[in-house]
Amino acid sequence: MNRKIIVLDTTLRDGEQVPGAKLNVHQKVEIAQQLKRLHVDIIEAGFPASSAGDFQAVRQIARTVGDTVSITALARAVKSDIDAVYESIKEARQPLIHIVLGTSNIHVEKKFNRSKEAVLQMGVDAVRYAKTLLSHVQYSTEDASRSEFDYLWKTIESVVKAGATMINVPDTVGYAVPEQFGELIRKINERLKNLDDRVVLSVHCHNDLGLATANTLAAVKNGADKVECTINGLGERAGNTSLEEVVMALKVRENYYGCRTDIQTKELLRTSRLVSHLTGLDVQVNKAITGENAFAHSSGIHQDGLLKDKQVYEIMSPEEVGAESMELILTARSGRHAFKNAVEKMGFDTSDAADFETLFQQFLALADAKKEVYDHDVFYLVTNHRTIEPSDAHLYVLESFQVISSDQTPTATVKLKKGAETIVGSSVGDGPIDALYGVIKSLVGIDVQLKDYKISSLSRGKEAIGRVNIRIEYEGKTYSGRAMDTDIVKASANAFLNGINAVVLDLAKV
Ligand code: KIV
Ligand code: ZN
Repeated sequence: MNRKIIVLDTTLRDGEQVPGAKLNVHQKVEIAQQLKRLHVDIIEAGFPASSAGDFQAVRQIARTVGDTVSITALARAVKSDIDAVYESIKEARQPLIHIVLGTSNIHVEKKFNRSKEAVLQMGVDAVRYAKTLLSHVQYSTEDASRSEFDYLWKTIESVVKAGATMINVPDTVGYAVPEQFGELIRKINERLKNLDDRVVLSVHCHNDLGLATANTLAAVKNGADKVECTINGLGERAGNTSLEEVVMALKVRENYYGCRTDIQTKELLRTSRLVSHLTGLDVQVNKAITGENAFAHSSGIHQDGLLKDKQVYEIMSPEEVGAESMELILTARSGRHAFKNAVEKMGFDTSDAADFETLFQQFLALADAKKEVYDHDVFYLVTNHRTIEPSDAHLYVLESFQVISSDQTPTATVKLKKGAETIVGSSVGDGPIDALYGVIKSLVGIDVQLKDYKISSLSRGKEAIGRVNIRIEYEGKTYSGRAMDTDIVKASANAFLNGINAVVLDLAKV
């Protein structure tokens, strides 16, 4: 029987630390629901002590998907962080407290300015305290790959004796190389099995040298029973280990690794697209497994070989990662039943009749504009509808707009609503989008700086949906906004307004 590898997804914690990838509660819950459909074993939902918003999001996730998926959240080795984690995850069926504390000399000396013994004691005390709240506690020895082995092991031994049930060995700065990291895991695993063979050994790698997947697989080969990953490899700096790469490597090379995961691989592509859509971070076209070209064969020799037998050039089929299920085509005449079928086939709930009706009306509007509606258009429609912030009297809403493009004086006129108030204005600019953003800025009275503007097509067909991602800066902080529409000027206005609304919400917290 193949060894089962536990998959922890940290897209909502480590992944969300990427600048500008901030997600609202609804978006986080939507991603968590998709991770549940993907069958990850554990969702790391956030870092609750970092903000009230993060706390609420973790709690909401524990409530909505914590019935079947284990939920964890991150705490530093201090009581207040552990309390915040406990309070936010306690409603899940299998809550897990995750404590992190550095073990490398540089972390101990520079971050804590304490003796190694004192830092180790902090970790032991933290685990003891966490165990008074919950039975499952994971301990991460931050920067393990740059730590002195004796101190690393002493820490692991002490926290296991204090009650830790999972030991996570992170390559925090992406310094490890596969042979060395595999050897480190082999040594730890051997000792850990002797100490207490119920304790799960886990790894968490970063991709600074492009080796996160290789290091994770080397660790699995050498005894790690749990892997920490993110969708699309999102995460600090160069990112984390990509979930889809590790899962498919274990599946395609099952005979070599002798392991399996419970991941529903047919959900991989959809999960990748959802995360990319909601974070606004594109997946590179040649990304393994989920990139647009991952299964595209362009050379004549390859195409010829494929026509003879797919296995000539394909080690896995696109269907295995969910590519084929994106092809359904609907039109305005498809009707409620077909649309409902498509929505349910994707795993979305349609039991709220009023909500479904709103969604159906949006589908009709889209089908009128676009003529052919593909499966992934439906997917974006539903996720967009479900992840919009509830209306808030402090937030700006686009009422109407007119933009005139010309090589003389591009002009924009915009009408916005904020609660009961309506404001109208006009502006000229260097180009139509400059004029549009100029008037919106003057109407809201917040002097944000536009740092990035990106437009892409979400689907095929003449009337493809355009998606606009923007990044703005205000008082040293980066905010992002995104919107989609078949009208790219409207999408541009809404993306900018969404970014501004994020600033408004942030200012309201102060
Ligand atoms: O990279 C890291 O060390 C982490 C820990 C919190 C596991 O993210
Ligand atoms: Zn990390």
